[in-house]
Amino acid sequence: MAEVNIYEGALDKGLEGVVACTTKVSFIVGDHLNFRGYTIDDLAANSTFEETTFLLWNDRLPTKSELATFTADLHKEMALTPDFIQVLKGIPTNVHPMAWLRTAVSLLAHWDKDANDNAPEANARKAVRLTAKMTTLLCAFDAIRKKQEPVAPKEGKSIAWNMMYMLGGGKEPNAEHVKVMDTCLILHADHELNCSAFATRVTASSLSDLHSAVVSAIGALKGPLHGGANEQVILMLQKIGNMDKAQQFVKDALQAKEKVMGIGHRVYKNGDPRARILRGMSDKLTKAAGMHHMYEMSTLIDDTMYKEKGLMPNVDFYSATVYFSMGIPTDLFTPIFAASRISGWCAHAFEQYANNRIYRPRGKWAGKEGLTWKPVEQR
Ligand code: COA
Repeated sequence: MAEVNIYEGALDKGLEGVVACTTKVSFIVGDHLNFRGYTIDDLAANSTFEETTFLLWNDRLPTKSELATFTADLHKEMALTPDFIQVLKGIPTNVHPMAWLRTAVSLLAHWDKDANDNAPEANARKAVRLTAKMTTLLCAFDAIRKKQEPVAPKEGKSIAWNMMYMLGGGKEPNAEHVKVMDTCLILHADHELNCSAFATRVTASSLSDLHSAVVSAIGALKGPLHGGANEQVILMLQKIGNMDKAQQFVKDALQAKEKVMGIGHRVYKNGDPRARILRGMSDKLTKAAGMHHMYEMSTLIDDTMYKEKGLMPNVDFYSATVYFSMGIPTDLFTPIFAASRISGWCAHAFEQYANNRIYRPRGKWAGKEGLTWKPVEQR
């Protein structure tokens, strides 16, 4: 029988256009994003992060009583135990918050009685704990690095409310900021087979546990080409400094073949629907915070990138100024992304476990062949 040439059509980089699994979680069609059949615009306008999480995990919207129970379960799980907080205080904070979060989430498994149980019911319980605690963890990090006591979350309040409350040191948060954060959590909750969702699925496909899959995902999200871009956008705006320099900055970056952060997307070629929503939010919030020049600089970069390269902003571009104008520390932008995307990662892990085959692609050989080992003295 003739051998099949598995290398024919092999993709060397980035798996562009490869369909790696069947999914019902979320779907990009043209410049629209759908979660379980609902458009992101519909969900951002009408849902809450808790309800969107239920939708992602259950393939349908909850009834009123299901939503109340699910929301209460999530909110109950936000708190961290005193002994766990003590352990967290021992993790050095002189690293990027995403590195700290990766360690902290991995440690959570040591306190989770279901850690090694991969049954669907156990995974559902773990997903609730992980989703609830991710926000508390990132806020605890911020307190610990400032040598403050982490603020405990308030039960009965939403994840978005608690995020703003804990980051604000326990002060009643601004109601508009809470609403904005909730919308941001919805917008970031899932995004089809992005790099970190794929990392989740690859780890889950070996039938490893949910915490391990989520830790893989945090590592993938951390990179500047994925979730790390939102933080880089603010650093870029601060480096540019003012409107007069924005256009030239873009031209110089393109000339030097450097990436302009928050711009471009593998799948969206006519714009990212999340960026359209975030742009309006950025306009309003930067104005209210007396930093509208940050928005104006952003729109100029946006326009210049489109004119020069035909590229448009992704979710990270305008979310950066949204978070910045609410006073959130720049290096927490990506952890906040993780606190939202955890819901999508869990949905992808559930789907992978339910219909699993281990991911095991091949590599196209490009190395040396036929070498013979020589004793070290003869090399
Ligand atoms: N700035 C400048 N040029 C960019 C660019 C950007 N942000 N994004 C893409 N390009 C250019 C590339 O240089 C390349 O140009 P060329 O064909 O002239 O060489 C072309 O557009 C294709 O880019 P490529 O990097 O191959 O696209 P990709 O699909 O592999 O990568 C991203 C997609 C999102 C990783 C990429 O657009 C990027 O790095 N963006 C900045 C980081 C970012 O915002 N990430 C968040 C993603 S949600």
